[in-house]
Amino acid sequence: MLRVGVMVSGGGTNLQAILDSLDAGRITNVEIAVVISNNPGAYALERAKGHGIDAVCISPKEYPDREAFNEALVAKVDEYDLGLIVLAGFLVKIPQQMIDKYENRIINIHPSLIPSFCGVGFYGLKVHEAALARGVKITGATVHYVDGGMDTGPIILQKAVEVKDGDTPKVLQQRVMEEAEWVILPEAIDKIANS
Ligand code: GAR
Repeated sequence: MLRVGVMVSGGGTNLQAILDSLDAGRITNVEIAVVISNNPGAYALERAKGHGIDAVCISPKEYPDREAFNEALVAKVDEYDLGLIVLAGFLVKIPQQMIDKYENRIINIHPSLIPSFCGVGFYGLKVHEAALARGVKITGATVHYVDGGMDTGPIILQKAVEVKDGDTPKVLQQRVMEEAEWVILPEAIDKIANS
């Protein structure tokens, strides 16, 4: 059984897709040990609690500086003896010490087809705003391993999504989530757990 920790910052629809896939048996040999957020108001924490999963907040506001926050974050992750860490809309830079410690055991979902619309400053709705501004006709989502760079690690899965005339960033974001993110993130976790 792979012990998985999910790290979140917001609504947690990707976390929900993981939980639904577990319940439906589309992900096997996985136990979600903890959900960790940097944001005390993240609805994702409620989703975790509703599923009987430990829901923990480590907020940078509670620490004197970034270094202290990073140490607390890594210490909390270490408590759970995790085989895989899933960044599901976690919008904080992962401390280098955590990347070193959990090499090849951290994955991230990004709402574009990497290497397009990724890297510093590309997160959440901004990714879709940039895709629409550029006028691409196809976008999508990517699950990749996390290395020391920003969205630079090896790609695990990608899925393309059509951009339609009249799309707003929000409409496009929703389509990318429904058609790509909520499909490939659970798929990647199942693949890792059973390989
Ligand atoms: C998702 O669209 C995810 O791909 C994105 O944040 C959103 C979180 O939504 N992540 C990034 O942009 C990372 N660079 P959720 O909280 O509803 O899962």
